[in-house]
Amino acid sequence: MNILIGNQKGGVGKSTLTVCAANYLTLAKQKEAIILDMDYQQSISQKYQKAKLLENTEPYEVLQANLEDYSLLSNALSQNANAAILIDLPGKLDDDGLIPVFTSADLVICPFSYDEFTFESTILFSVVLKKVNPKARVFFIPNRIKANAKFEIMEEVNLQLQKFGTLTAAIPDRVDFQRITTYQTPLSLLPVLAPVFEQIFDKSLWNK
Ligand SMILES: Nc1ncnc2c1ncn2[C@@H]1O[C@H](COP(=O)(O)OP(=O)(O)OP(=O)(O)O)[C@@H](O)[C@H]1O
Ligand SMILES: [Mg+2]
Repeated sequence: MNILIGNQKGGVGKSTLTVCAANYLTLAKQKEAIILDMDYQQSISQKYQKAKLLENTEPYEVLQANLEDYSLLSNALSQNANAAILIDLPGKLDDDGLIPVFTSADLVICPFSYDEFTFESTILFSVVLKKVNPKARVFFIPNRIKANAKFEIMEEVNLQLQKFGTLTAAIPDRVDFQRITTYQTPLSLLPVLAPVFEQIFDKSLWNK
């Protein structure tokens, strides 16, 4: 199953939540996962290389991929129908090479926050995605939500995003997100991540 983690907006938590999702699937749910790191900054690959020096067996592999190699890689990886292929997309999506990546997605995870700029980028991302791949299931994750913050545009944003997909529970802003590795998620984050991933990785998804 191909799972894209994307948004046209940078810095919304795509790479962070890709690692959290891979950790959740492999460590909590004993599923197979692979991360395809297509982020130009390769932040997950760097984390992975560092962690590999310290640990023995990794729970999943992180492969670096560029747009040109995608079709080849994705064909090879999809031979294993049990594995979740988590694809971390870059923050800027104006390349035609992304069309095959969008087309092959079964599921799309789109982190966002409640501000005007992010809203516009999230809608843009959703419109393009739905045009290229109307069948993909889309989940929007409100991320880095600060306690007590008031979001005037929240209701409107939720209403608009629900036209494209499902809104999950919100993930709060926590410093512990800085401590995530490709080997583990800090235990303190499990209570905030588990409800979100349980909703997204619903059992029915694996039995298709
Ligand atoms: N819920 C959260 N609470 C606190 N910090 C967070 C949270 N989610 C993400 N972050 C932090 O926000 C920063 C940006 O996150 P991340 O790199 O995952 O975003 P991105 O969407 O992949 O960015 P880019 O578009 O540059 O690839 C990181 O420092 C990360 O640790
Ligand atoms: Mg990133």
